[in-house]
Amino acid sequence: MQLIDGKAVSQAVKERVRDEIAQKGLKIGLAVVIVGNDQASRVYVNNKKKACEFCGITSYEYALPEETTEEQLLELVDTLNGDGKVNGILVQLPLPKHIDEKKIIEHISPMKDVDAFHAVNVGRIMIGDYAFLPCTPAGVMELIHSTGTEVSGKECVVIGRSNIVGKPMAMLLLHENGTVTVCHSRTKDLAEVCRRADILVSAVGRAGFVTADMVKDGAVVIDVGMNRNAEGKLCGDVDFDSVAPKCSFITPVPGGVGPMTIAMLMENTLRAKKLQS
Ligand code: GUN
Repeated sequence: MQLIDGKAVSQAVKERVRDEIAQKGLKIGLAVVIVGNDQASRVYVNNKKKACEFCGITSYEYALPEETTEEQLLELVDTLNGDGKVNGILVQLPLPKHIDEKKIIEHISPMKDVDAFHAVNVGRIMIGDYAFLPCTPAGVMELIHSTGTEVSGKECVVIGRSNIVGKPMAMLLLHENGTVTVCHSRTKDLAEVCRRADILVSAVGRAGFVTADMVKDGAVVIDVGMNRNAEGKLCGDVDFDSVAPKCSFITPVPGGVGPMTIAMLMENTLRAKKLQS
């Protein structure tokens, strides 16, 4: 079994972005919008700002109070859509309950949608035209590539069907000619389906969900989960200690997929600049 080092792979991606920006002398801006006081969102936003600094991207933070109205947020997005210094717009999710997330996302210019959440960019992903890569799934692909594993012809099983991870993940694997199965809460014989996987990607959001009986010997296992266990410790979906000995490669949590999402965001922000020039 070999651990996949997400920190090292993400560092390489960020260095690639930093070097291209420096070499071409590009001036790039990313607007990061956070509404309310969600602690996890605060940590993510701070990490995104740090990555911008490393890459030579200017970040503009808009930290708005919980009681911000939908109209006010739509107005801010309008302003950012028209701001020439801002190449990418990221609205951190989740938003407070009184704001319709879909409405906000659809208001972001597809040309500045560095999360690739807008319906136009989701549609492009479906047809294999990647203006922007969906950050977390694209990060997973980088991790798989880092192992030297060829996706083509392999049995790939994705657990979870969210718009942010599961669905676009299935598309990226399919575009590399994987044979892809998407599992979810209604899947019958989940363990049996997962045992077919040469590449198993879990994006469920439940600690200890993937157990050793669900994993084929020699599988590549990618854990997208970000959960807290009973002791409050950060952990993934995979019961790491029992699953790891069966794998050829496995990602740890933390230090696996997490850092990749932010690195791919930096890549998308650079892409945004190029699309707009
Ligand atoms: N909340 C959790 N993950 C993400 C993400 O990738 N982008 C945004 N905007 N919000 C998130």
